[in-house]
Amino acid sequence: MGFTAQTIEELKARAKRRVPRMFFDYADSGSWTQSTYFANEADFSKIMFRQRVAVDMTNRSLASTMIGQDVAMPVAIAPTGFGGMQHPDGEILGAKVARAFGIPFTLSTMSICSIEDVAEATDGAPFWFQLYVMRDRQFMYNLIDRAKAANCSALVLTLDLQILGQRHKDARNGLSAPPRVNLNTIWQLASRPQWCLSMLRTRRHTFRNIVGHADNVGDISSLASWTAEQFDPKLNWSDIEWIKERWGGKLILKGIMDAEDARMAAASGADAIIVSNHGGRQLDGAPSSIAALPGIIEAVGDKIEVHMDGGIRSGQDVMRALCLGAKGVYIGRPWLYGLGAGGEAGVEQALDIIRRELDVTMALCGERDIRNVGEHNLINPGVFSS
Ligand code: GLV
Repeated sequence: MGFTAQTIEELKARAKRRVPRMFFDYADSGSWTQSTYFANEADFSKIMFRQRVAVDMTNRSLASTMIGQDVAMPVAIAPTGFGGMQHPDGEILGAKVARAFGIPFTLSTMSICSIEDVAEATDGAPFWFQLYVMRDRQFMYNLIDRAKAANCSALVLTLDLQILGQRHKDARNGLSAPPRVNLNTIWQLASRPQWCLSMLRTRRHTFRNIVGHADNVGDISSLASWTAEQFDPKLNWSDIEWIKERWGGKLILKGIMDAEDARMAAASGADAIIVSNHGGRQLDGAPSSIAALPGIIEAVGDKIEVHMDGGIRSGQDVMRALCLGAKGVYIGRPWLYGLGAGGEAGVEQALDIIRRELDVTMALCGERDIRNVGEHNLINPGVFSS
């Protein structure tokens, strides 16, 4: 892409210049005052590493496992909506790059490229699929069956979005896919001519997991109205049972922030949980994910695999989360920024930045194998314990 970023922050700045405002803002914002969104990032800097010297740093390994699957590093691409609006065919590109890096790619229900699009483009290589609990059970059954048919190797069930947190920027920008045409959106698009031209080269412009698959959905005018109509506000723990049974494969529960919920999740028979506040996009005022992680590890760390997402902007942050006990972390915004900055090459740069930073940080902490890192690598492992 004729540009080499040194940091995720640089990819973000470049994405901002290239992607129409409604889609950049969608990626870059939280709900209400955005306090949780900002805390997700800021809290990482409170965790201090123990620097070690004069230890052999040769033959380092970042390889690990997540839900029993081999990963080249314990980092997965998080499910995010509108990937294909940051860059044409965004989710296909993300899945390809993740495959080349040997890490899981999680496709969102609210993606632009469909399950079948991604499966076809990656030659049937396994990826993970994220599912919402929706009122239209037949549509959910179909999604689960489509994910099975596409060889998805894990289902990530989101539990924290029965109703949508209020996102002021999205409401102001008139966010929709495809973009609706009014004076506001015309201006947003006209100021990004390269993006508009590139979008003409793909036929994927709407939520292809949904449009044409769910009854009565011709187009989704806004995420807010779609979720209000379709997502099931009555979701409860008994739903997990039938979803688990219908799916029959590895199940990951996403959106756990509370020790009591974590115990229920562990008892549900799922394979892993993701400590997540949905990137600060749902309950504003909730703690950061990294601050919530130690309490959840303490409650269920010996019963179920614990992953986390939210606020990861560097390999150092990945290392911090692993040291506090996460078995894997997910990156959402970093991959979207890479995508917006430069498509496939941008996502490659994002993953390369994270991998390099993680490797060097691990080495400078005196570790050679990522599976051995832990609280002993931190000066203040109790920083978030109450
Ligand atoms: C969807 O998951 C969103 O956060 O917009």
